[in-house]
Amino acid sequence: MSIQSVIKGTGSFLPSKILTNVDLEKIVETSDEWIFQRTGIRQRHIVSGEETTSVLASNAARQALAASGLSSDDIDGVIVATTTPDLTFPSVAVHVQAELNLPAKMAFDIQAVCTGFIYALSTAHSFIQSGQCKNILVIGAESMSSILDWEDRTTCVLFGDGAGAVVLGASEETDDKASTPQRGILSTHLYADGRYKDILCTNGGVSKTRSTGVIQMQGREVFKQAVTLMHNIVEEALSANGFTGNDLDWLVPHQANIRIISATAEKLGLPMDKVVVTVEDQGNTSAASIPLALDLAVRDGRIQKNQLILLEALGGGLTWGASLLRF
Ligand code: ACO
Repeated sequence: MSIQSVIKGTGSFLPSKILTNVDLEKIVETSDEWIFQRTGIRQRHIVSGEETTSVLASNAARQALAASGLSSDDIDGVIVATTTPDLTFPSVAVHVQAELNLPAKMAFDIQAVCTGFIYALSTAHSFIQSGQCKNILVIGAESMSSILDWEDRTTCVLFGDGAGAVVLGASEETDDKASTPQRGILSTHLYADGRYKDILCTNGGVSKTRSTGVIQMQGREVFKQAVTLMHNIVEEALSANGFTGNDLDWLVPHQANIRIISATAEKLGLPMDKVVVTVEDQGNTSAASIPLALDLAVRDGRIQKNQLILLEALGGGLTWGASLLRF
């Protein structure tokens, strides 16, 4: 029997500083009405002072570890999805490892922009299924505010900072529970198409400009691609497991824009009260948005054990992906 990987605990962390649309009206020529109507965003959390991506990641990871009921010694891997690490190296993952005093086992970052958490989850799932690891901290953490051009109203209004984490671990459930549906990750689906690399990118990087650069985006083109590719991937994830949209308990999408999220829910025939939405309060936190939304819905009691959950995301690259799981 193959080893199944289940989510054993979730956690999240948001910086305390909040930037509202009204605050942004004082920085660039925009309005609360324009931002809310086009994106569904009202406010976002922003790092300040000593807060870095690894601080956000460590706080979220600590919470996920506590929720899992495991001890630090049980964790044999840390994978962080981020595009905004504290430093070029070492990785955010080793910062988290040191901060939480975790065992000297594997730790590394993954960079797939807004799809990063799905890539990280898929990677952790493979490590667990192969028997190489038993419990992995999988984290999405971003300080997107540090790579924004605060004079460009077409991008700076969209993003926020934060971190979410899960402990993904080998299931201890045995065959005598065969009558109940199998829990854990049922499948993951990852894609990238470098032909679209220039429609959402930064204009700098270590080896090209020796700076991080800032985000540049062809918003309409990204929007168009996101709607089509999300339609395709949610269908793929469901049909790969013999399900339809009617079987889903929750859609936990990447939170880029409420219009993209609603279009995907509509395609699935899913009412919006089965979709976890955080974009209004958090903006687009890139790789952190899915684990942040997941943790919110677990903690407020919406997501329950054994429910069927679909995660999906699209980001720069373009990269996109989905994962179907039974919580
Ligand atoms: N405030 C006021 N006006 C603005 C703002 C702003 N913040 N930003 C742009 N405008 C203006 C534009 O200059 C333009 O003016 P013009 O007609 O005089 O030229 C007008 O608003 C319309 O601009 P568009 O870019 O065509 O607006 P659109 O309806 O496409 O909405 C948006 C823009 C919200 C960015 C949309 O294209 C979108 O959400 N795209 C998806 C991008 C995304 O979410 N990226 C995140 C990363 S990828 C991901 O996570 C999916």
